[in-house]
Amino acid sequence: MTNTNSALHGEVFYPAAEVAQGARVPDWEALAQRAAADLEGFWAAEARELEWYAPWEQVLDESQKPFFKWFTGAKVNIVHNCLDRYQAGATRNKTALLWEGEKGDVREFSYATLHREVCRFANVLKGLGVAKGDRVTIYMGRVPEIIVAMLACAKLGAIHSVVYGGFSVDSLAGRIADSESRVAITCDGACLNGKIVELKKIMDEALTRCPLVEKLIVVKRTGADVPVVAGRDVWYHEAMSAPAISDECATEVMDAEDPLFILYTSGTTGKPKAIVHTHGGYMVGIYTTLKYVFDLQPEDRFWCAADPGWITGHSYIVYSPLLNGTTNFMYEGAPAYPQPDRWWSLIEKYRLSIYYTAPTAIRGLMRFGEDWPAKHDLSSLRLLGTVGEPINPEAWKWYHRVIGHERCPIMDTWWQTETGMFMITPTPALPLKPGSGTRPFFGQQAEIVDDEGKVVPDGDEGNLVLLRPWPAMLRTVYKDPERYVRQYWGRFPGKYLTGDSAKRDVDGYYWIIGRVDDVIKVSGYRLGTAEIESALVSHPAVAEAAAIGLPHEIKGIGIHAFVILRQGFTASPGLSAELIEHVGAHMGKIARPETVTIVDKLPKTRSGKIMRRVLKARAQGLPEGDLSTLED
Ligand code: WTA
Repeated sequence: MTNTNSALHGEVFYPAAEVAQGARVPDWEALAQRAAADLEGFWAAEARELEWYAPWEQVLDESQKPFFKWFTGAKVNIVHNCLDRYQAGATRNKTALLWEGEKGDVREFSYATLHREVCRFANVLKGLGVAKGDRVTIYMGRVPEIIVAMLACAKLGAIHSVVYGGFSVDSLAGRIADSESRVAITCDGACLNGKIVELKKIMDEALTRCPLVEKLIVVKRTGADVPVVAGRDVWYHEAMSAPAISDECATEVMDAEDPLFILYTSGTTGKPKAIVHTHGGYMVGIYTTLKYVFDLQPEDRFWCAADPGWITGHSYIVYSPLLNGTTNFMYEGAPAYPQPDRWWSLIEKYRLSIYYTAPTAIRGLMRFGEDWPAKHDLSSLRLLGTVGEPINPEAWKWYHRVIGHERCPIMDTWWQTETGMFMITPTPALPLKPGSGTRPFFGQQAEIVDDEGKVVPDGDEGNLVLLRPWPAMLRTVYKDPERYVRQYWGRFPGKYLTGDSAKRDVDGYYWIIGRVDDVIKVSGYRLGTAEIESALVSHPAVAEAAAIGLPHEIKGIGIHAFVILRQGFTASPGLSAELIEHVGAHMGKIARPETVTIVDKLPKTRSGKIMRRVLKARAQGLPEGDLSTLED
């Protein structure tokens, strides 16, 4: 790749000629224009590359917007396209999933063996009474069985609700209860950083608050001695080897608009809400975006180093690689255990060609220096990617030079749990600017608007909104359609509110600045201030709490909390440390604040809302802005 300043402004990396010419989208402008002129035609052509039990009557139904519908009338099941359709052809014997555990154990599934495992597990679930429309909570480590479990649910038309294995009791229990799951799946534990995360123990505790759950399936991963609740707990390996379990299981015929999964995420206010995604549109959206953005070729070995528990894992570990017939790699452990080159050694060992991770991981690994990656042959890499938070140009350039050897374009993909698929992203043929996700994906248009909804001049910061519907868009908020309308479409009618602030430059490139709502992106993980605050308030010493995000060198943003104590408690460093641990124990380590400051007062509006903006400005020594609504 060359770094020259010609037509585009600022620092630009132009793709090498062979990259651009060989890419699936050699002419970005032409395809973008085609999709803009005929949005439905563009998506219908993509949808036709997949198999449907019955065709659609309409590509896009806007009659009840913002409740958009895609491929209405069509019958489909995403699992048919991930697995079933390959069983008669050559792909059957291709490697679908390569997996390495933190201990170094290796497992490999072909499209045939993964299909068999999914059929068998779907039969296990069926035997436990799981049927179309039922919710199943999945709380597991990064083991192949989490993929099997998600696909088995989808095969039956059951709705999976995956809770990230880094969350703890409160977060898990709240999500299980809200989803009204009767069946849950977990592991005896997860292997991470040479230790065991006691998933089963956390699940057991959560289930004491979730009386609806009748069955808990437990995957044996660590071999730890875990208590078994008679009548409720079922070992995965025992259920799977029962003689009555067949290798065949019919795939449920779903409407394109039937829900595939719900995924809880933190929003603007209150409790996390579940985002609803469907079988039809979601499938088409994630299939198309991965194909074009990561330019999938038959011999690729794709590694998305996210966790299946977040949207990135749902879309681009579990479903889309299979939809594209790709060989997928998944690693169980953490990036720098036992040594800082564990990830680089995996790229070398498995000859991985596409590597997709978060800026936080890059910054974390950068810290260990260039000698670690230099020990490994990374020549198999063809493309790199990043997601989850803005990437600072310094980290981008390190990634480009040290990992990509100035040869591999970096796909900086901006998207959200709600969007289901990449929304602002380059393809390999597009010139790149470090720190920018470049331009909206084919068929999409974005705007930067001020608080009144007026488009701001290029270069000015404002609210990022999306203008066109897209197939993988969320359909609603689970059990709360009004919130869906209010939160995403209520602020600027007809425009989808992302909750991010951003700028657009003169070349039409978008630069994400960060969240403007009560969401904090810590190491790329999406957390809500409300959940952190309610964890703090559940401690007997705390009367009131406010959490904010402040810049952090590695994590991008770190959490800082301010609390008012109840009467009878006095401030001390010991108490602050205890409160940090308390949040960790209740919500999960990822939510642990960097600092907890004990204060006498919190800045509030006259109606009692905490002004986090003021706290943030004060903590950074910045101007506090308009204080006219401040209570006192
Ligand atoms: C942020 C993750 C800058 C953004 C897929 C968004 C990004 C939120 C990028 C969604 C990126 C995601 N550059 N910021 N490439 N990708 N974000 O729902 O603030 O966990 O609104 O989905 O992450 O987080 P979520």
